[in-house]
Amino acid sequence: MPSRFLDLPQAPLQPLHLPWLHAAQVEAAILRLDLIDPLISGNKWFKLRHHLLQAQQANAPGLISLGGNHSNHLHALAAAGKRFGFATVGLLRGHPQDTPTVRDLQALGMELHWLSYGGYRARHEAGFWAPWQARYPDWHCIPEGGGGLAGAQGCALIVEQARAQLAALGWPDYHVWWLAAGTGTTLAGLVLAEAGAHEVHGALAVPWDHGVPEAVAALAGNRGYQLHAACRGGFARIDDELLAFIDETEGRTGVPLEALYTAKALLALRDQVEAGRFAPGTRLIFLHTGGLQGRRGYL
Ligand SMILES: Cc1ncc(COP(=O)(O)O)c(C=O)c1O
Repeated sequence: MPSRFLDLPQAPLQPLHLPWLHAAQVEAAILRLDLIDPLISGNKWFKLRHHLLQAQQANAPGLISLGGNHSNHLHALAAAGKRFGFATVGLLRGHPQDTPTVRDLQALGMELHWLSYGGYRARHEAGFWAPWQARYPDWHCIPEGGGGLAGAQGCALIVEQARAQLAALGWPDYHVWWLAAGTGTTLAGLVLAEAGAHEVHGALAVPWDHGVPEAVAALAGNRGYQLHAACRGGFARIDDELLAFIDETEGRTGVPLEALYTAKALLALRDQVEAGRFAPGTRLIFLHTGGLQGRRGYL
């Protein structure tokens, strides 16, 4: 079986110039995971890497995972399955809907099953996977968002990719990571890879009570990171200030932003920078976690 999925493309590390960063004398760079691949974009390939490896080692005929009808994770999974030779099944939240993401999943060959909202809420319960394992024997089941330790382990490569490009940026070192957290898997991966060498800040794209602090603590312990509220009233909420911020930031930087994770994370960073959270001279890496395909559904 091919293992081309082990060689991830290099994400460019680019200087990030914004007036509020300059005013606080914070030097920032953005690691553009959105540019690694047109389909398996953002943090998704990193999170899927070890899952794909486990599936390959177990000779699994296919991969099953779950998500919503704009899910970046399912989109990347369907694309990865098609490219690397795994059949894929997607378990979707709610009732059948026709969104650009859903159409892509079907075009990429993913078989879809719609769980009711109640059925989807049971995804963390012990017996959730049993009927699917019975229906798809030996398939590799991947938790929501590509989570768990396998997901976090793949994210260590994100740190390697950034470090390999510091010299080209003229940076001797960096001090801080800032990134969006949805399940907290990517954040946990960075914390594990940094092992206390640099601070990691997660901007929560979901409310506090969605279990992210617990998930990150279970994977990476309690040290080396901080979490910040960033969801602006709810996961899928998009308000006028956020839209204006996206417009202005895209205009200034030319970097396309996605509203639910990347833009909310950057806006939360602006608030912290303006509040003086980072000392002058801080060098900060902002992680662009991709997800641009999802924009078609809500922007
Ligand atoms: C674009 C984007 N950024 C960030 C995240 C958050 O990553 P994690 O679930 O690893 O916290 C996700 C998905 O969850 C995502 O789709």
